[in-house]
Amino acid sequence: MEKRLALITGGTSGIGLGTAKALAGKFDLALAYAENHEKAFDAAAQLNDCGSEVKIFVCKLDGYQSAKQLYDRVVADFGRQPEILVNSAGRIMDGFFLQTDFSIQEKLIQEHLVVSMAMCQLALKSMYGKRYGRIVNLSSISAIYAKRSQVSYAAAKAGIIGFTKALALEVAHRGITVNTVAPGLIRTPMTSGIINYLEKASPREISRHIPAGYIGEPEDVGSLIAFLCSDAARYITGSVITVDGGRSLGDTGT
Ligand SMILES: NC(=O)c1ccc[n+]([C@@H]2O[C@H](COP(=O)([O-])OP(=O)(O)OC[C@H]3O[C@@H](n4cnc5c(N)ncnc54)[C@H](OP(=O)(O)O)[C@@H]3O)[C@@H](O)[C@H]2O)c1
Repeated sequence: MEKRLALITGGTSGIGLGTAKALAGKFDLALAYAENHEKAFDAAAQLNDCGSEVKIFVCKLDGYQSAKQLYDRVVADFGRQPEILVNSAGRIMDGFFLQTDFSIQEKLIQEHLVVSMAMCQLALKSMYGKRYGRIVNLSSISAIYAKRSQVSYAAAKAGIIGFTKALALEVAHRGITVNTVAPGLIRTPMTSGIINYLEKASPREISRHIPAGYIGEPEDVGSLIAFLCSDAARYITGSVITVDGGRSLGDTGT
């Protein structure tokens, strides 16, 4: 029997790749990325013998038009529409609000929020007809737990929580779930700077920031997303699930 198709934006690196590995064997995989061909070929090679059809798609996502180009290419290449969508693409551009050019703020909102909304609308049309679909949008604990130098990132990620809930309400009756996953610090290329710093810190210092006492791995997020994409998660929709080793709980007491 033909496997369902999962489209993962940002699927060639970090959390997106962790998700692809967790979904591999159960779903065919369309992995989208922006520019790093080497990393994308390596990701595809890692999934080589997984028993799923895996294809990579380069597309710099910056708004509706680029999202549509990507979606149409995926549909043309696989000859069918995805039943699973994971929106993980995006990068971070930290900087103090007053010192950051407004074009950077707009870019972040476009890449994280507008692209995720566009991908949802594109994918939902066929999910609606099939009366089946699973969508997971990546937010961040930065949407909930304020951090200096992340004003527009927080705005984009908080927007993702808001639109995911409202959208979940509109499509729940068609067997479609839409959820948000909000990671804390996860070891990926995006976070290499802070991780290099924390790796030199004492266990006590790490525990001051992360109650679990260690940095999360992409698989910690990927396994949750895979569950949300499974039939077993049919009754979970509109949820925001943090995966952060307790980081956003509050005072660590140390
Ligand atoms: N890592 C964390 O601690 C953390 C915490 C909270 C939330 N998140 C969120 O989780 C998601 C994944 O982060 P990550 O840490 O896994 O990042 P990552 O390892 O840097 O991977 C990002 C992926 O997205 C792709 N990408 C970036 N910008 C894109 C664009 N404009 N168009 C198309 N593809 C694009 C990259 O492609 P290229 O490699 O070709 O550039 C790469 O495949 C992001 O939304 C991030 O905000 C991460």
